[in-house]
Amino acid sequence: MYQVYPRSFADGNGDGDGDLPGLRAHLPYLADLGVDGLWISPWFPSPLADGGYDVSDFCDIHPMFGTLADADAVLSEAHALGLRVIIDLVPNHTSDQHPWFLAALAAGPGSPERQRYFFRDGRGRDGAEPPNNWISAFGGSAWSRVTEPDGRPGQWYLHLFAPEQPDLDWSHPPVLDAFDDVLRFWFDRGVDGLRIDAAPAMAKKLGLPDADYGGVPEFRTVDWDDNPHWDVEEVHDIFRRWRAIADTYDGDRAFVAEAVVSTPERLAKYLRPDEMHTAFNFPYLKSPWDARALREVIDATLASFEPIGVPSTWVLTSHDEIRPVTRYGRATTSSFFITDGEGEESDLALGTRRARAAALLMLALPGGAYIYQGEELGLPNVDDLPDDVLQDPMFHRSGGALRGRDGCRVPIPWSGTSPPFGFSPPGVHPWLPQPESWAPLTVEAESSDPESTLSLYRAALRLRRSVDGLAGAPLGWRESPEGVLDFERANALRCVVNLGAPPVDLGGSDVLLSSLPLVDGRLPVDGAAWIRPTGPDPATAG
Ligand code: GLC
Repeated sequence: MYQVYPRSFADGNGDGDGDLPGLRAHLPYLADLGVDGLWISPWFPSPLADGGYDVSDFCDIHPMFGTLADADAVLSEAHALGLRVIIDLVPNHTSDQHPWFLAALAAGPGSPERQRYFFRDGRGRDGAEPPNNWISAFGGSAWSRVTEPDGRPGQWYLHLFAPEQPDLDWSHPPVLDAFDDVLRFWFDRGVDGLRIDAAPAMAKKLGLPDADYGGVPEFRTVDWDDNPHWDVEEVHDIFRRWRAIADTYDGDRAFVAEAVVSTPERLAKYLRPDEMHTAFNFPYLKSPWDARALREVIDATLASFEPIGVPSTWVLTSHDEIRPVTRYGRATTSSFFITDGEGEESDLALGTRRARAAALLMLALPGGAYIYQGEELGLPNVDDLPDDVLQDPMFHRSGGALRGRDGCRVPIPWSGTSPPFGFSPPGVHPWLPQPESWAPLTVEAESSDPESTLSLYRAALRLRRSVDGLAGAPLGWRESPEGVLDFERANALRCVVNLGAPPVDLGGSDVLLSSLPLVDGRLPVDGAAWIRPTGPDPATAG
């Protein structure tokens, strides 16, 4: 699956922002790349306080991106090219400009309009303290105080993300009913599935008790076991209801959970047969560039997904994460919501070598893989965007202490030798500036270079489809030296990754693809190779 962040993918109308006509025009590129489908980040009307994850109408298209007719054209043309389309549903919160929230503000305390959200009186003198100690993912309290229609400071409302993203109360039946219609609206139009944003946030513990953050008030949801606003049991009732709706449709309609929870067992609950079909693999995404850590997370993933009959998924990055080329060139190679390793220098040549090897590793694993736009070009993060173009609430809410996620959202370079690199027409400034240094990283430049990262992804995706017996083949580890990952997918494919050992002798094997040139038949450090296996398969040989 290929993740499209529409504002940064391709600008069809020449205003500096990506849009659906731009996406439509580049669908053949995606078909040619060899992916099976797209996941499109939010395309709904939105004030863009959080890059579109603040939705003001769940059943329309942002005018910046186009119209519903453009969306229909994207769906039908993608389908004609054999590509499935998953869209991003953001159900935990609305925009503060959504008519429901504006009505709630206007209607005042105690009104039915306020029941769609979490409006509560404050604590302390004059209710001047937030109703509880919950924190926002973007820093600070998860509560903001409103001015009531009579002009006085009034109630507080909950926002686990930015203040412009008030949380909906999913225990309130009209909210559930309204979203049933949203699901049907998009399924009726032909979308093949929904990615469910911030899924574990949707249920809150009754009474909204204070959270125990274990002394570390940071939004590290992987560390939370019994938290009143994350991964609360009742969340599963919502997904059961949604699955029942999806199952009434013909063909496959899939849910993908964005669920960053503490253990594989808890994640598996989201994937029960009457809930979601699949989930992003955040432990894999977060893993450092380290053979032991990667092997552990691969084994843990397979162990938790296989018994429940759900395909594993693999992902290296997204619109929320540091781009792998930058990340793997730093001392800190793990990633969490872009913050790990922030500010560290990156050796981009090293990072590129590792990111290419990481791609071959990911694409050799059994299950589904997610590629984020620009990953296939080996784009680095843009860490030196000027402060005045930064839009991410992480940057603003942290008072500039965190740079935020704009650096991984810089528009795609398509062609030419200088910005805007065919993203927009010449002379137009894209919404985030592209670095001049991206000239060798355009789709055009990389298409004509057999050694490019784009050529590597194309070749790998082609082999993934064409190697006999690969689909569904189990993974079996082969014995390997410290620092090397070596596994076979039944008799179909062997993958060797050298993460820090001396060059690995591949013993004259039949190498189908490698991320670096072999030296005297040896795989250099930070390289990966796909090999046609010979002899018995360790997965089945016992
Ligand atoms: C998810 C999205 C992220 C967004 C957040 C709040 O984590 O991937 O971009 O900021 O939810 O909607």
